[in-house]
Amino acid sequence: MSDSITHVGVLGGGLMGAGIAQVCAYAGYHVTMREVSDALCAKARVAIEKSFDKSIEKGKATTGDKTVALGRLSFTTELRALHDAQLVIEAVVEDIVIKSAMFRELDTLCPAATIFASNTSSLTITEMAAATARGDRFVGLHFFNPVPAMKLVEVVRALSTSDDTVTRVTQFVASLGKEPVATRDNSGFIVNRLLVPYMIDAIRALESGVGSIADIDKGMTLGAGHPMGPFTLLDFVGLDTTYKIAEIMFAEYREPRFAPPPLLKRMVMAGLFGRKSGKGFYDYSQTPPAPNDLGL
Ligand code: 3HC
Repeated sequence: MSDSITHVGVLGGGLMGAGIAQVCAYAGYHVTMREVSDALCAKARVAIEKSFDKSIEKGKATTGDKTVALGRLSFTTELRALHDAQLVIEAVVEDIVIKSAMFRELDTLCPAATIFASNTSSLTITEMAAATARGDRFVGLHFFNPVPAMKLVEVVRALSTSDDTVTRVTQFVASLGKEPVATRDNSGFIVNRLLVPYMIDAIRALESGVGSIADIDKGMTLGAGHPMGPFTLLDFVGLDTTYKIAEIMFAEYREPRFAPPPLLKRMVMAGLFGRKSGKGFYDYSQTPPAPNDLGL
């Protein structure tokens, strides 16, 4: 465990928040997860249990590890219950107004020494830090999906972040068994800055008839050694999530390479979010998932 951090607060029990809570509890930290309702707390707990089962299936953890880790996890709907945490990691919806308001309130509830971290993928850490009186103890910690399986965490330094905070959270990341990389607070950081234009360029390639969904995916898995082709990855990340990230990055940089293509927008409008909604570039009601006929 990282020096002086024993208790971690996690805000948000969605895909990323649940994964973050899981890896923290597995690494030995006491974890308090905050969701907005009892039903969402229960949903997050079920997701964490299932994800542990996946790790057990893959031989990465034992049932004993799962029991011990679940014993370190508690759930709450109260923000003030995070008062005892030395580190709070936020993983709520990608909306700067919601995130900033949450941090503003938390700033009044937590001791001055508590470090605040955001798992945002594309918003500005400096802007969230500015909503608090602890800019030096504010940092980005960007995890990747699926959190238990992906080794990387981006450590994002805002303009106000102190060296001490960067050192402590970098040690914390290592204590989770993850590999930290240091990045500046530019929208998308390192990975999404490169990954998002790649994924949306695959959509443009599809729109312009370069190849089919299956062949473009096959091209990148077999030709470039990627574990997932771009459409499988888009469905995995979520088309709604990718659209939102691309919009934020386009607004930040005003460069066409970040602009979400029309097909992505229309698929999101049609509720084709990918795996989470059962349909995206593939139809997940079939085994194996079949490429979706998008009428192109
Ligand atoms: N714990 C929980 N879930 C796990 C897991 C684990 N240890 N390992 C894999 N999974 C899950 C996946 O979510 C998926 O779930 P399913 O049960 O519904 O099918 C399934 O396991 C897929 O895993 P498989 O067993 O079929 O395949 P592998 O284990 O061989 O590989 C992988 C899975 C590690 C996800 C690999 O395909 C991979 O590396 N893919 C690329 C993932 C990637 O690029 N992630 C980053 C996305 S970008 C991001 O997160 C940033 C954000 O800001 C958008």
